[in-house]
Amino acid sequence: MITLKNIVKEYEGKQEGNKAVDGLDLEINKGEFVALLGPSGCGKTTTLMMLAGLLKPTSGEIYFGGRLVNHVEPKDRNIGMVFQSYALYPHLSVRDNIAFPLRERKIPKLEAYERAKETSKILQIDHLLDRKPAQLSGGQQQRVAMARALSKNPEILLLDEPMSNLDARLKLDVRDEIRKIQRNLGVTTIIVTHDQEEALAISDRVAILNGGKIQQYAPPNELFNHPVNLFVASFLGNPPMNLVKGTLEEKSGNQVVATNGFEYVLPEDRRLDKTHMGKQVLFGIRPHDIMICDSTDMQAIKMKIDLVEHLGSGKLVKAIDPQHKLETMIRILTGNEIEVNSGDNVYIKFKERKFHIFDMTDNGVNLLQYR
Ligand SMILES: Nc1ncnc2c1ncn2[C@@H]1O[C@H](COP(=O)(O)OP(=O)(O)OP(=O)(O)O)[C@@H](O)[C@H]1O
Ligand SMILES: [Mg+2]
Repeated sequence: MITLKNIVKEYEGKQEGNKAVDGLDLEINKGEFVALLGPSGCGKTTTLMMLAGLLKPTSGEIYFGGRLVNHVEPKDRNIGMVFQSYALYPHLSVRDNIAFPLRERKIPKLEAYERAKETSKILQIDHLLDRKPAQLSGGQQQRVAMARALSKNPEILLLDEPMSNLDARLKLDVRDEIRKIQRNLGVTTIIVTHDQEEALAISDRVAILNGGKIQQYAPPNELFNHPVNLFVASFLGNPPMNLVKGTLEEKSGNQVVATNGFEYVLPEDRRLDKTHMGKQVLFGIRPHDIMICDSTDMQAIKMKIDLVEHLGSGKLVKAIDPQHKLETMIRILTGNEIEVNSGDNVYIKFKERKFHIFDMTDNGVNLLQYR
């Protein structure tokens, strides 16, 4: 198990209070595949470099299996690392590139080559061993970099945006491959990415970072369905969650979110503590949790369709309220079988219990997060 305890990293010269990593706590189980996900500059690479031992934390502790490693040199950490720019040695063959970390450890040449061959088989590049990096495709170079990181049998694999240089199709192949290799070898893996789809697709758990702080650390489904705050909710999802400004109010025995365009009555089992009444909130609902419905349906809201985009797998409908009182348009994902055209007047309703309420007086905390 890897444990990060209250890790802070301040780069020299950075202004005080401007921490690259700010009180990070994280536990990663043996054999687990974890992604660090967040916007540019949120501290992902910094965290990875501290795990590798290439940077020292300003404060806090890093443990590998119960052993404090803060002062353990990178070469003694048994880590394999693949950087965003996977910098292979251009003058060395694929074989020598893969064997490089072994030769550094004074492993005899023949044995190093034998192990390089084994690793290259796992990554299906054993037919390329005599080539130079320049004679390989991007995806093949990627796998050589991965083989080099794996050749010394690391306990921990650290990957920093390893797929950012690949085209969309190859990315999918490589990501499947990374996951397969990781499963087969059981190596604890931490991948840094700002591609949410990638993180959600391949990880056991994802840590969402913002401003050097962990916002939420959970399995992909939970992050998506039960975001703890507005940041996580709006960071994940494409097209993004609809967010409508409103106020929490009590009306004739019901609790409602009152917006400028509609009033949404909360179901009984989603009622909030009375202390929240009167608060400014954002009402959140994902595009695929909205349906086009009949005017007679419960809580149907009248809308006018502004635009329909064909996505292939379905349609993205952008609707506005006919009175123009809502400050935002509403995005709806529908199946291809739904006939809608711009200019149509329609009714929409929200799938039950799929909404979120973010408290704008308390950093956007999700008031329904524990349901
Ligand atoms: N060597 C450095 N000296 C000073 N500040 C740095 C240094 N490296 C990074 N930073 C700052 O620390 C913060 C975190 O940087 P980091 O590289 O960890 O971000 P990241 O999440 O990996 O971003 P990206 O997705 O753009 O790679 C940023 O504000 C960055 O400007
Ligand atoms: Mg980075």
